[in-house]
Amino acid sequence: MSYLRLLSALLCLGVFPALGAELELIQNASARQGVTLNGPWRVIVDPYESGYYDYRYKPQADGGFGANKKPQSKSDLIEYDFDTADRLQVPGDWNTQRPELMLYEGTVWYKRDFDCTIQPGHRIFVWFGAANYRAMVFLNGVKVGEHEGGFTPFQFEITANVREKGNVLIVKVDDQRKQDFIPTVMTDWWNYGGLTRAVRIIDVPGTFVQDYSIQLEKGSQTRVAGWVRLNGAGRGQKVTVRIPEAGITQTFTPDATGLARVAFDARIDLWSPERPKLYDVTIESGADRVTDRIGFRTIEARGRNLLLNGKPVFLRGVSIHAEAPFRAGRVYSEADARTLFQWAKEVDCNFVRLPHYPHDEVMTRLADELGLLVWSEIPVYWTISWENPETLRNAERQLTEMITRDKNRASVILWSVANETPRGDPRLKFLTTLVERARSLDSTRLITAALETHYADPRTIVVEDPLGKSLDVVSCNEYIGWYDGLPGKIDTIAWQTPYEKPFILSEFGADAQAGRHGDDLTRFTEEYQANVYRRQVAMFRRIPFLNGTIAWVLVDFRSPRRPLAGIQDFYNRKGLFSDRGERKPAFYILRDYYKSMESK
Ligand code: GCU
Repeated sequence: MSYLRLLSALLCLGVFPALGAELELIQNASARQGVTLNGPWRVIVDPYESGYYDYRYKPQADGGFGANKKPQSKSDLIEYDFDTADRLQVPGDWNTQRPELMLYEGTVWYKRDFDCTIQPGHRIFVWFGAANYRAMVFLNGVKVGEHEGGFTPFQFEITANVREKGNVLIVKVDDQRKQDFIPTVMTDWWNYGGLTRAVRIIDVPGTFVQDYSIQLEKGSQTRVAGWVRLNGAGRGQKVTVRIPEAGITQTFTPDATGLARVAFDARIDLWSPERPKLYDVTIESGADRVTDRIGFRTIEARGRNLLLNGKPVFLRGVSIHAEAPFRAGRVYSEADARTLFQWAKEVDCNFVRLPHYPHDEVMTRLADELGLLVWSEIPVYWTISWENPETLRNAERQLTEMITRDKNRASVILWSVANETPRGDPRLKFLTTLVERARSLDSTRLITAALETHYADPRTIVVEDPLGKSLDVVSCNEYIGWYDGLPGKIDTIAWQTPYEKPFILSEFGADAQAGRHGDDLTRFTEEYQANVYRRQVAMFRRIPFLNGTIAWVLVDFRSPRRPLAGIQDFYNRKGLFSDRGERKPAFYILRDYYKSMESK
């Protein structure tokens, strides 16, 4: 039994963990009682981590800046003071809030004071939507926990030492890249650091609904199956699931660990991109009650077909980095998400890939509402340290947090475990472990990865990466006409795969600086990009077993790997839109292709 499972079990037996134990995630955190801690926080930029280590590079016994020490006399030497420090907005990466922090990678300390109403018997948690990349959390001078991984939520219980007035919350956030991390040191996106998503205090009864999975039973369109997990001493109390619009009220009894299996027939309207029907689902137990907006649909791989609600679907996709339109910086608001999804809808997409890390929950919830299918992934990207057991544990933890958070989102149909990872036995073992973990966490969705390919001959690309054996959907990226030959080469290519599984081209594209013109063989011109798109579309039509295409990428996005002055200026320019929201000719070519595929 894993540590977290044991911990959960102990909790349900009324055995409260030591202060700050990181429990399995509280589901639907934004719907819980509590207070938001969004807004201005005091910050100290700490490039040498002098707020944590002493001059011998040993952790300071008193927790350093986390102790928030104040001079007791005029002669005391304290070399930091949050109360006179600068401020940054939370949520928000630090890079786009101060020009001098745009390229900064390292530690920033955040401090926020808060008051907290504490009802008798209630439990209090501090919850973070994400912190990139490692967070160390202190409350009232005591360390309550740490988290690694820049794109998934986490929380710590603070019941034992939170007070009604004058709480001091301090967070050390460090976004240094390291070879053994997930992602590793080399990525094609900006390393936006900080408290990049919402932070809130969650207040729940002593026994509460910690997590739940309420979806259609695999293979059924009329039976709901899942589970509800209670946390706290009242582990035996009944659980009631209500879906008023479907006339459902069902009560269940949890087992000794607080887990209640849920199953009932239901006559419901299925969720789809064309008709994104969501239901209010309320889960009650004892004094706790939480309501979620859940859609119900099926997704299956049958032979080479992808079936949504039992019917073949062609995925008209585009990739969208979590970068806010116009201002850049990490997406955290519904307004940012709405703009990006509105642009994707203008391309006539029914599907979005959210690369290369779990995006803010606001994206997957809005995709549910707007009717966009979603590919969600963890940042197992390029050359990971496949033989490091801690790296695998980190990847598994991030995968678990991604699936735990979004397993009730109808829009999410694909979990991806890797992107463009070089073949080899250690990589195959590592990724197969992740695929098995994903399946054990969620039997209803399909698993994929952007696989490696090779040329069988100069005109034939074969997709037979051994990882494909364990996937439900075979995907691969290709840049014929950009990284691989010139645009004319696209016309010569045929595709083969031995896998009798749905097949998706998960990336294709070319760079163009909006407004740069020339002939269609001049790099970085709109004409060159359009030339690639026209030929790519013609190639798609020649692939009989193609189930979907995902253009790389909706909007130009920042990357430290793209320094070409006057053209890239630290932007990857493969967007259909420029970073200023200008549509390039390739936008219209793809939109026309997707309109022609609507009935497929
Ligand atoms: C790769 C990778 C992307 C990258 C793209 C590019 O396929 O998956 O993250 O941005 O190529 O080079 O533009």
